[in-house]
Amino acid sequence: MEQTIRQVLPVDPPPRLLMGPGPITVDPRVLRAMSAQLVGQYDPAMTAYMNETMALYRSVFRTVNEQTFLVDGTSRAGIEAALVSLLSPGDKVLVPVFGRFGHLLREIAERCGAEVHVREVPWGEVFTLEQLEEAVREVRPKLVALVQGDTSTTMNQPLEGVGEVCHRHGALLYVDVTASLGGNPFEMDAWGVDAVTAGLQKCLSGPSGSAPISLSPRAVAVIDARRSTEAGLRADPDSEEGLAPRAARIRSNYFDLAMVMDYWSEKRLNHHTEATTMLYCARECARLLLEEGLDAAVARHALHGRAMLAGVQGLGLRVFGDVAHKMHNVVAVWIPESVDGDAVRAAMLGDYGIEIGTSFGPLAGRTWRIGTMGYNARKDAVLVTLAALEQVLRAAGAPVAVGGGVQAAQEVYA
Ligand SMILES: Cc1ncc(COP(=O)(O)O)c(C=O)c1O
Repeated sequence: MEQTIRQVLPVDPPPRLLMGPGPITVDPRVLRAMSAQLVGQYDPAMTAYMNETMALYRSVFRTVNEQTFLVDGTSRAGIEAALVSLLSPGDKVLVPVFGRFGHLLREIAERCGAEVHVREVPWGEVFTLEQLEEAVREVRPKLVALVQGDTSTTMNQPLEGVGEVCHRHGALLYVDVTASLGGNPFEMDAWGVDAVTAGLQKCLSGPSGSAPISLSPRAVAVIDARRSTEAGLRADPDSEEGLAPRAARIRSNYFDLAMVMDYWSEKRLNHHTEATTMLYCARECARLLLEEGLDAAVARHALHGRAMLAGVQGLGLRVFGDVAHKMHNVVAVWIPESVDGDAVRAAMLGDYGIEIGTSFGPLAGRTWRIGTMGYNARKDAVLVTLAALEQVLRAAGAPVAVGGGVQAAQEVYA
């Protein structure tokens, strides 16, 4: 056993260019921030970083919401925290599903004990505002839970007007922006979004492991009404004064956003031990995004996304879904009939060190997903990926236009 352990070498991953639907290659500046030494949980340096992180993400989400902070865990931790804190058993929730991550919202809402109402459009499409309003009018939900960019289909659900519709019918609006934030426009306050959660591993150029979240005063009011404090933190553990009735309390300790808010507020009431390294990471991701400028970052994703789209079309590949509603940062292409999709991905990785993505559910084995996001939304990354894909497809015997991919992308850049 000891012998085997001695043979375990230090971590030294092979160099890769991650051009799938995320995670993507991390910006080296983010990796540097993550290698900084820890400080204590209540060190003034730490609480200052926490406050700065809150302020940075207010700008990233375009909100003035005081309650803007991080949930420790991957993006689905943020989703689960938002839904379990907002939904009580029996609450009605409407989940418009247009891909895998809509199904995830449905599944999490069901586990919260909510009465879940689903509406679906075929993969590759998005909902119209009229469809959403009709569903809200029929269901009369407490909450509408929606994905903005669903990486499984590459579609970007338009959100303008959705918050207004929800509020007119007395519902809150939750949006998952994990895959779209930073690469596509998002306006929390202007669009009337009540709760939003994200991740770092897509357009924010970081790894997964931290979920930025923001809550409107309306959402905070719902959570506050379910507030409790752990017995061991109360001066009198036996007294439940000021706490919500037991049946109303949030059905998770880790994801109890009332307690997490107390931790991030000036009360600094102990909850979990903040994942300091991920805090450094999330802070640096937001800092870099804002240093570039949100609009500039979105424009960069739009440009390189257009180049990749033109490039795959220039190779003669067919693009999946309604391209007019595609996210800027990922494209799905039909795998040509004559080739083995997994063998092509393996050759891209083995011969060129480039990762492109496979797909889920009804698209598994039928489409590849190619990302241009975060640190890899760059001209050289786009051109190298297209050049490699051409070579691999030709070697696999697929009929591709020689030089067509790189040339079409170069025309976008010209
Ligand atoms: C839209 C969306 N939501 C949620 C997730 C889940 O994120 P995680 O794997 O970080 O939990 C993803 C991951 O790809 C995503 O694209």
